Parts: sequence; C-alpha cells; structure tokens
Amino acid sequence: MATSNTASTQWRDRYGPWAVVTGASDGIGLEIARDLAARGLKLVLVARRAAVLEQIADVIERTNSVETRVIAADLGKSDDVERVLRECQDLDVGLLVASAGFGTTGNFLATDIRDEVDMVDVNCRAVLAMSKHFSARFAARKKGGLILFGSIVGYQGVGNAANYAATKAYVQTLAEGLAVDLAPSGIDVLSCAPGPVETGFAVRSNLSSAQSADPRAVARETVAALGRMTTVKPGIMSKILINSLAFLPRRARTKILSGIMASRTKHHHGSEAQRTPQQPA
Ligand SMILES: NC(=O)c1ccc[n+]([C@@H]2O[C@H](COP(=O)([O-])OP(=O)(O)OC[C@H]3O[C@@H](n4cnc5c(N)ncnc54)[C@H](OP(=O)(O)O)[C@@H]3O)[C@@H](O)[C@H]2O)c1
Repeated sequence: MATSNTASTQWRDRYGPWAVVTGASDGIGLEIARDLAARGLKLVLVARRAAVLEQIADVIERTNSVETRVIAADLGKSDDVERVLRECQDLDVGLLVASAGFGTTGNFLATDIRDEVDMVDVNCRAVLAMSKHFSARFAARKKGGLILFGSIVGYQGVGNAANYAATKAYVQTLAEGLAVDLAPSGIDVLSCAPGPVETGFAVRSNLSSAQSADPRAVARETVAALGRMTTVKPGIMSKILINSLAFLPRRARTKILSGIMASRTKHHHGSEAQRTPQQPA
C-alpha cells in the first residue's frame, strides 16, 4: 500500500500538478480527464462547448476534490489556441493531452475544403502549437508529458478518409520524433493510436461503430502507458490491425484499410462526402 501511494505521488509529481486536456467535453479526452482527476491532477478542460465543460468540471471537482479551469476555445482558430496558452500561463502544468480532433469521410472529390483545412488546423496545427509551447515549459522544469493522438489509419494512406489519415500520420510522426528530442529534458511523449472507439467521433464522421473499444478502457490504457512506451495501441482491434498489417507493403495496407473504411462509412456513394458540422450541436 505504502509502495503504491509512493508510486502515485511520484506520478503526480512528474506530470502534475496541472494537466491540460483538449477535447475534454467528450469521448477519449473526457475519459482521460476523469482518469487524471482520479489520480489527483488538477485539470484545464478545453473544447468548444463551454456549458458541457462547466458541467463536467463541476462533477469532477465534487467527485475528486481537484481544482479545474474551463477554457472554451475553437482550436481550429489560431487566436483561440494562443488564448488557451495565455490562460494556462499562471498554472504549473506538467501534462498536455491533445485529444481534440475530428475526421471527415467520403471520397476526396466530394469533401468540403473548409472542413479539410479546419481538420488540418485542429488535428495538426493546434497540436503542434501546444506541443511546442508546453515542451518549452516542461523542459524548464525538467519533467512533464505530452499525449498526442494518432490512429490506426495514420500508418498508411486511406481512401475515403484521405486527409484525416494524413493528419494522423503527421501526429504519429511528430510524436515519434518529439520522443527522441524531448527525452533528454525529462519529457515523456506518447502517441495513442486507437482503432475504432465508441465515442461521438464515429457519429460525427458518419462511420458505423461496430467492434469499437470502450473509451474508458482506452483512457486507462493510454494514461498507464505514459513514460513506458512511445506508442500505445489501446484495445484489441488496434493491436491486431497495426501489428498484423505492419509487415505488408504500404500499398497493400492502403488497400485493406481503404476497404475497411469504405465498409464503415455509412454513406456508401463515392460522390457523397459527409460534411462535419463546424459548430457542435
Ligand atoms: N473514436 C475513434 O474511433 C478514434 C480512433 C482513432 C483516433 N481517434 C482520435 O482520438 C481523439 C479523440 O477522439 P474521440 O473519439 O474522443 O472524439 P469525440 O468523441 O468526437 O470528441 C472530440 C473532442 O474534440 C473536441 N473538438 C472537436 N473539434 C474541436 C475544435 N475545433 N476545437 C476544440 N475542441 C474540439 C470536441 O469538443 P467540442 O465539440 O465541445 O468542441 C470533443 O471534446 C481524436 O484526435 C481522434 O482523431 C479517435
């Protein structure tokens, strides 16, 4: 018991006292926020929906007796990203969890360029800006952690989700390189590369969610992997898919993943892409 108390105090000391969690209003980000609060970290909760975040913050504060701060921001807008960083300036942050993200699906000819560019801004540009800012802060305190979100689709091109897969390839590659650059400064970098997870993501991306992992289990496995590895493949599907496809030629992986994506896409017509709403309901 004493040992596990010491271990959790050391964990909090390494990655606390504050963690910034983007995408905390839903899905994997929300479950990671809950997991971190249960470990005693104070939380900055970031997403667009202020009212949802306030409710979540209220429950977390009452359940876990930890402080929270809510920052409503659209991470597709660089002014909002900068405001988030400014509003975290007075806090001793030790962990960034960059879970905010979304995907478009459908044939590239039919997708909307505004969604495609917004997706690059949210999934890549905001992740880069926040990683850059917090890694400098963590280097100054010689400890900290970054958790970024790749995906099984980030290991090859994927038809019907071409730009989404490309954003996730960017994050996976970024995380692997940052893990090398930041290790000497005491910073642990983790890429989480899930398969399908049962969150609002599938609905928003117009995908069926068969054989999806439980977001709580994904969150638990991800947080536990921090400091132990560079990429976590949470859940059975991501392990099977990534590991079994790893030895195939890239072209074959693209064919297989494109087939899976086509079968998961609810709108099967190649000319009909799903437009992800810019503003959440
Ligand atoms: N679910 C899956 O099957 C799956 C698989 C592989 C990888 N991933 C990755 O895992 C991460 C989390 O996905 P999830 O399943 O938890 O998705 P989710 O349930 O749809 O939640 C996405 C979160 O991101 C926030 N968000 C979206 N756009 C935003 C914006 N412009 N500005 C600020 N916040 C924004 C949403 O909050 P608001 O709507 O309140 O802004 C929400 O909190 C994503 O990076 C995703 O690409 C998911």
